[in-house]
Amino acid sequence: MILGAGIDIIEVERIQKAVERWGDVFLNHVFTPAEIEYARKFKFPYRHYAGRFAVKEAIFKAMGNPDLSWHDVTITNDPSGKPVCHFNHIDIKNRLLISISHSRDYAVASATLEG
Ligand SMILES: CC(C)(COP(=O)(O)OP(=O)(O)OC[C@H]1O[C@@H](n2cnc3c(N)ncnc32)[C@H](O)[C@@H]1OP(=O)(O)O)[C@@H](O)C(=O)NCCC(=O)NCCS
Repeated sequence: MILGAGIDIIEVERIQKAVERWGDVFLNHVFTPAEIEYARKFKFPYRHYAGRFAVKEAIFKAMGNPDLSWHDVTITNDPSGKPVCHFNHIDIKNRLLISISHSRDYAVASATLEG
């Protein structure tokens, strides 16, 4: 049964400007070490940061829990590249299906909460 859905879009430039202005303070506030390590491997890391930012917003919408924060969720990729959501510090039994896409200028993401 589907319990919730969320979607989000963000300009890649918005993330780039935040990183240029706040540097590691911004990165460490929003992203986990695994997410930062993943994005840094790419030629255009801001697209991957933006995708993770968007998918976390989509997850927050799907879950409808105002107490969730950036570090409660880590996004990794399975061997095929498919993004996978892991919860930190909190015990969530439900499954979350997520999807991310990015172009040069925008990143979009969706999340579906199953119960
Ligand atoms: C999967 C595929 C469609 C992604 O296309 P793409 O144009 O690179 O995707 P976009 O630029 O829109 O989005 C990139 C995001 O797609 C997601 N993605 C990558 N591979 C994926 C996959 N196998 N399944 C689902 N999502 C995937 C990632 O989240 C990625 O962003 P991230 O690296 O920042 O996490 C493409 O790699 C493809 O056609 N692969 C061959 C077919 C296939 O399904 N292969 C899977 C191997 S089992």
